Amino acid sequence: MTMLKKLYTGAAVLALSTSAAVAQEVEVLHWWTSGGEAAALNVLREDLAGSGIGWSDMPVAGGGGSDAMTVLRARVTAGDPPTAVQMLGFAIQDWAAEGALANLDALAAEQGWNDVVPAALQAFSTYEGSWVAAPVNVHSTNWVWANTALMEELGIEQPGTWEEFVAAMQAAQDAGYTALAHGGQAWQEATVFDSMVMGVGGPEFYQAAFIDLDPEALGGAQMVEAFDRMTTLRGFVDDNFSGRDWNLASAMVFNGEALFQIMGDWAKGEFVNAGQTAGEEFQCFRVPGTEGTVTFNSDQFAMFNVDDEAEQASQLAMATAVLSPEFQIAFNVVKGSVPARTDIDPASFDACGQLGMAQLAEAGESGGLFGSMAHGHANPPSVQNAMYDVITAHFNGEYDSAVAAEEMVAAVELAQ
Ligand code: BGC
Repeated sequence: MTMLKKLYTGAAVLALSTSAAVAQEVEVLHWWTSGGEAAALNVLREDLAGSGIGWSDMPVAGGGGSDAMTVLRARVTAGDPPTAVQMLGFAIQDWAAEGALANLDALAAEQGWNDVVPAALQAFSTYEGSWVAAPVNVHSTNWVWANTALMEELGIEQPGTWEEFVAAMQAAQDAGYTALAHGGQAWQEATVFDSMVMGVGGPEFYQAAFIDLDPEALGGAQMVEAFDRMTTLRGFVDDNFSGRDWNLASAMVFNGEALFQIMGDWAKGEFVNAGQTAGEEFQCFRVPGTEGTVTFNSDQFAMFNVDDEAEQASQLAMATAVLSPEFQIAFNVVKGSVPARTDIDPASFDACGQLGMAQLAEAGESGGLFGSMAHGHANPPSVQNAMYDVITAHFNGEYDSAVAAEEMVAAVELAQ
């Protein structure tokens, strides 16, 4: 009897603590699967562990998050949304419009998010005036990552014009190196295309083509030229580019096989993860022709509506952790991004991080700050995916530049 009672009490306590442990856990859907990304994710995981919140991992690889968003749709349709989801720009707005996201207004007011999160980010973190997502960072896509030793060996200075950039790649190719490390996946081609559009036509053209979706801009001479630049780049990638993951392309640069990679500053996370230092083994500079502009994207955690009160509490704890100044530094120095708050001292960031912070602020003031098309901050996912298809078909030789520009007009019209 005593024994039975003991067993019963023991079981009851276990059940209680198990349910407490389960409740104090966040299931996080994300696409941070590379070495640098995983290191950054660990900063968050450990931060939450420090507050007694467990982590249930739901990774779905693929930059830009298209694949993650497909998995998310299936989960929500099945009535089982994850606690928190990494999300970009217009996708946040789409989910908020469906009424699927939790309202974070009380927390935002208590912690003064309105005053410290840049307006360009708030445009995506809020829906109809209410906070629905917690911004983690600001990335930007118009960067070149370069191997310093190779630049020195080939006598290459940081190029300031498109012509100098092409000449530098030619020199690398002539010397037997891969000039441009690239992974042939639609989202990577789209990432590069952000900079070709900005480089050819500047802010006015970028706005007209990617944000206003003006058919004249989408199908005009500048769009043809942007595609021509993609053709030029295609001539500088190696034979094995098809399907390669972006982090393997970064590795080609830090291993000295390739001179440049055009990629968002998550690439810096790979260089840092490999033990390299900005301004020493590797360099960063804006894609020639895009200087003065920043094509940005911000990873945010959208919290889905959940009934369980303990789960709601862990959502708030996660949002609190993500927005804290200490976390913004600890996470972003590893991730390669810059803080999603305007009040962070740049001192802890490396040379590329400090440059990124200064340029983000400058571009914000000068009208040079634009959402990245490739990463969901210029137009809704339906249009973005239509653009991906055309850009990647052109890169793979299916269309010439003139046809690609025509296809852009048709695909965008169909997607709207
Ligand atoms: C995300 C980054 C991520 C990159 C590659 C982008 O869409 O914003 O955080 O590192 O994709 O996975």
